[in-house]
Amino acid sequence: VNPPGVHRGLAGVVVDTTAVSTVIQETNSLTYRGYPVQELAAHRSFEEVAYLLRYGELPDAGQLREFETRERALRPLGRTTAELLTRLPSTCHPMDVLRTAVSLFGAEDPTEDDGSPAANRAKSLTLLAKLPVVVAADHRRRRGLDPILPDPALGLAENFFHMCFGAVPEPEVVRCFEISLILYAEHSFNASTFTARVVTSTLSDLYSAVTAAIGALKGPLHGGANEAVMHMLREIGDPGRAAEWLDGALAARRKIMGFGHRVYKHGDSRVPLMQEATDRLVARTGDPEAVRLAALHTALRHAVLDRKGIHPNLDYPAGLAYHLMGFDTPAFTPIFVMSRVTGWTAHITEQLDHNALIRPLGAYNGPDQRPVPMAV
Ligand code: CMC
Repeated sequence: VNPPGVHRGLAGVVVDTTAVSTVIQETNSLTYRGYPVQELAAHRSFEEVAYLLRYGELPDAGQLREFETRERALRPLGRTTAELLTRLPSTCHPMDVLRTAVSLFGAEDPTEDDGSPAANRAKSLTLLAKLPVVVAADHRRRRGLDPILPDPALGLAENFFHMCFGAVPEPEVVRCFEISLILYAEHSFNASTFTARVVTSTLSDLYSAVTAAIGALKGPLHGGANEAVMHMLREIGDPGRAAEWLDGALAARRKIMGFGHRVYKHGDSRVPLMQEATDRLVARTGDPEAVRLAALHTALRHAVLDRKGIHPNLDYPAGLAYHLMGFDTPAFTPIFVMSRVTGWTAHITEQLDHNALIRPLGAYNGPDQRPVPMAV
């Protein structure tokens, strides 16, 4: 229980205005710049959504072509970044690799401290283009493989598969991946976005804000949940064990990963579309192990709803989808970063538009003032 005047976790606290996105509680829907995310995911590419978040409007054909051309040209990594990333320990978590990479992008950029809207738009496009290259190279490094250069003939999602696996899967799989990127792109004042806004509010640079946001997203109560979902499913192992495992986990007061949400209390608006896309992946897999995992996924979803009345969040179907697409589990949260960077950078721009230093207060509950004892 919060002491009077204290809002632990800032639950329910409105800290600023935003025109980037909103959750409409009455209809349980999410809009980006006014457009329902389900409609965007059904009809638009991830690049179009990235443009929308950045400029406030969807691009026309010419604007999209120019945006895509620039994104494709910016993909190759600078030599220093590429070389330094290979020197990180091979045991290093991919989120640490990504956090380090963004820090290096800042160190390599002579305009790092230019916070003008034009400079920040250029940096946000750099991040959109280069982050998938880092994630893919690291995915291959964990498998002892050399990186594959980006292919400027391919769109962002297709190119990511190409750089990870040396091949682009069937369009339905690419589309499912793209849907996940669109759904992950933006979610108002979530913990990592708020982190980016806090850093920006001190007039620090965009790379510092994104580096900090990656640190916030890594935690399992936030973006790290998609990775944690897979660890949990592996721990349970068998669909027949879901209910029994859940009882034990709840008795031990464990949080069930991929369930619950600070904002949605009657189900995450993004889940139905992601679950449908994941179901399509399950239907096309011939792998009995994958089918068994999907059955366990469904059994646990029903058990959590029955026992606790808690609904899955986006990380629950997305985690399974990424596994079925062939990505290794530690890559799941970095994929989330590749997408959410669009929301973060839109919020950084907005924060700078009407900046106020974010500096809350704490209600002190330590010892009363007392004299320092004489040194002995
Ligand atoms: N497993 C078990 N109990 C839960 C869960 C869960 N996943 N989520 C909420 N509850 C219970 C919680 O224990 C509490 O019960 P009680 O009142 O008896 O103590 C009640 O529901 C309210 O939960 P809360 O933790 O006060 O709610 P919150 O708004 O602070 O937490 C949350 C939101 C996301 C941190 C939490 O639901 C959670 O830890 N979920 C698991 C991690 C997860 O999936 N995170 C991803 C979040 S959404 C996408 C993203 O950001 O990546």
